[in-house]
Amino acid sequence: MELRRFARCDLPGLYRVCLRTGAVGQDATDRYTDPDLLGHLYAGAYPTADPALSWVVRDDRGVAGYLVATADSAAFAAWQEEHWWPELRERYPLPGTGTEDDLRAISTIHAGQPPRTAVLDRYPAHLHIDLLPRAQGSGMGRRLIDAVVTELRARGVPGLHLGVAEANTGAIAFYDRVGFSTESRDDAGRLLVMDLTTA
Ligand SMILES: CC(C)(COP(=O)(O)OP(=O)(O)OC[C@H]1O[C@@H](n2cnc3c(N)ncnc32)[C@H](O)[C@@H]1OP(=O)(O)O)[C@@H](O)C(=O)NCCC(=O)NCCS
Repeated sequence: MELRRFARCDLPGLYRVCLRTGAVGQDATDRYTDPDLLGHLYAGAYPTADPALSWVVRDDRGVAGYLVATADSAAFAAWQEEHWWPELRERYPLPGTGTEDDLRAISTIHAGQPPRTAVLDRYPAHLHIDLLPRAQGSGMGRRLIDAVVTELRARGVPGLHLGVAEANTGAIAFYDRVGFSTESRDDAGRLLVMDLTTA
């Protein structure tokens, strides 16, 4: 198992892992008719916008995990409006077809994903991290977080945030161990933050 910077040939693997970890950390394959929808929402845009802020974990079976991030969530949302959502909105017209989850994803494509304005000043970066079961529990998650934190600090980014479902207790425990703290909670889950201005 090795950790590498993202290369364009990793993109299909990112989409696979995104789907296979998309149900509160578990395999979401059965929930979607279209296997690409989750990747469109949570994986593909990040390395397309800023490939130097994405990493993959690979072994001889291919991509087994990834971390994707943006340094500036407000600028990223504006970039998505211009470069990411328009093609997808054309490809997936409303009201959409498929399962309930397909329809929810298609409606998100049309609504867009507004940045979390309350934390943008102090924690402008955000990330998504997902590892397949075979890559979990051996320190790869921590190494991925170390990689993004090092890169964001080098860019002078003051902080990092992310959202996690309350039911994803394993991920919440992980984020706590690697230095995130809870900023707020709502029905959608927790907003976690990490201050990058202190060592
Ligand atoms: C959550 C996830 C990224 C953690 O990565 P990982 O490689 O398994 O975690 P690591 O082995 O690097 O563990 C780092 C620390 O977190 C702790 N940890 C990791 N998973 C944990 C769990 N499920 N329960 C309790 N602690 C956990 C480890 O014990 C370790 O603590 P230590 O370093 O203080 O000993 C990974 O399990 C995963 O991708 N899960 C499925 C997808 C998912 O839920 N993604 C998050 C969506 S918000």
